[in-house]
Amino acid sequence: MSRLLVKGRQKLSGEVSVQGAKNSALPILAATVLAKGESVLYHCPALSDVDASCGILRYLGCKARREGEALVIDSAGVDRADIPDALMRKTRSSIVFLGAVLARTGRAKLCFPGGCEIGPRPIDMHLRALRQLGAEIRERHGCLDCRAPYGLKGCRVALSFPSVGATEDIMIAAVTASGTTTITNAAREPEITDLADYLNRCGARIYGAGEGVIVIDGVPSLHGAAHTIIPDRIVAATLMSCAAVTGSALTLRGVVSSHLGAVLPVFEESGCHIRVSDGDLRLTAPQRLRSMRVVRTMPYPGFPTDAQAPLLAAACFAEGTSVFVENIFENRYRHTAELIRMGASIKTEGKVAVVEGVPRLYGASVEATDLRGAAALVIAALGAEGQSEISGVRYLERGYERLEQTLSDLGAEIRKV
Ligand code: UD1
Repeated sequence: MSRLLVKGRQKLSGEVSVQGAKNSALPILAATVLAKGESVLYHCPALSDVDASCGILRYLGCKARREGEALVIDSAGVDRADIPDALMRKTRSSIVFLGAVLARTGRAKLCFPGGCEIGPRPIDMHLRALRQLGAEIRERHGCLDCRAPYGLKGCRVALSFPSVGATEDIMIAAVTASGTTTITNAAREPEITDLADYLNRCGARIYGAGEGVIVIDGVPSLHGAAHTIIPDRIVAATLMSCAAVTGSALTLRGVVSSHLGAVLPVFEESGCHIRVSDGDLRLTAPQRLRSMRVVRTMPYPGFPTDAQAPLLAAACFAEGTSVFVENIFENRYRHTAELIRMGASIKTEGKVAVVEGVPRLYGASVEATDLRGAAALVIAALGAEGQSEISGVRYLERGYERLEQTLSDLGAEIRKV
């Protein structure tokens, strides 16, 4: 079991390129199942979640290989429609394979990811929509047996909530359905637009991705394509938080600042100075942060739930009280218990966390229990006095590419043991 050792209060400086977005890469990898040929994904991050998706692709009969920072997937040989439980459990987003495998083979057999780390993750919206598209789905003991022997048929799908995963699953399933599919109340995250861009490069006809209504005209089949994955806006927010708690100035390269529309004002409110030009973002933090007042997580373009934990960690150091309202997932404050061990003052009740900033946090032995919670602990450890030992590093590796190396290149004292 690896752990991270962090000696806090070291200034960071310099420039860092932001990795490709995990939440784009995973659905795009699932979508490659539909492309009957080779797809080249540039700027694809090297993450354990990406490895898990490649494991599923290989099991299904695809070839997957790394060429530098590109991932090359050849889906010509797909010859299976089932995904074993052990592969499904490795990544929670594997459910997006459901629409892809069903659309490609007319059949899909898989168990949905068990366990839960940030709250229940139901898939009712996915299943309802796929049934509307004509799939017959049998659910038994947590496993799904789906058939669409005569193919899927375009229809109108109205989502009761703009679920990111459901929007992706429906989009992927609908691209080769007969007729037109319209998704209303669709998720508008940049990763949805990125998935649509990849699919359209493969010959799909998707209109309106990034807006609340997405229209998909079915095409008979897709070919492979080259695509560059967008930068990871959550990794950008995490690195900005690292700079914020250490009073540092940092330049992030390759950022799409419009993807951070709801995040940048929160940093500015806390006293950070931000300058954006040509894909570079420079953040200069004050000596001590000010409180962030109220941060409410919302579907995009609102404040992202995935950036809540990193920003909350930064708020622990701020002067004054910050309030967080988590509206997307039920159980997303688990890391606060560990931050409290480090001296933070946080009270949580249901959706709300009240953070009273303290002048100092102190290094401690803490354990991560989910991906963004792990990032929050790294941020807190960077700002804290003394040494911290963070276990549960495997969570971090699901979403951050060599974070300890990146931070140590920027001047942090951090190493993996
Ligand atoms: C994706 C992201 C995750 C991010 C989340 C919200 C990936 C791989 N993961 O997760 O990092 O935190 O979006 O931005 O892209 N829901 C249902 N029924 C469903 C589907 C969802 O009730 O069928 C609920 C969920 O329990 C949750 C809310 O809808 O409360 C949002 O979930 P969703 O947008 O689907 O998140 P994911 O796609 O799982």
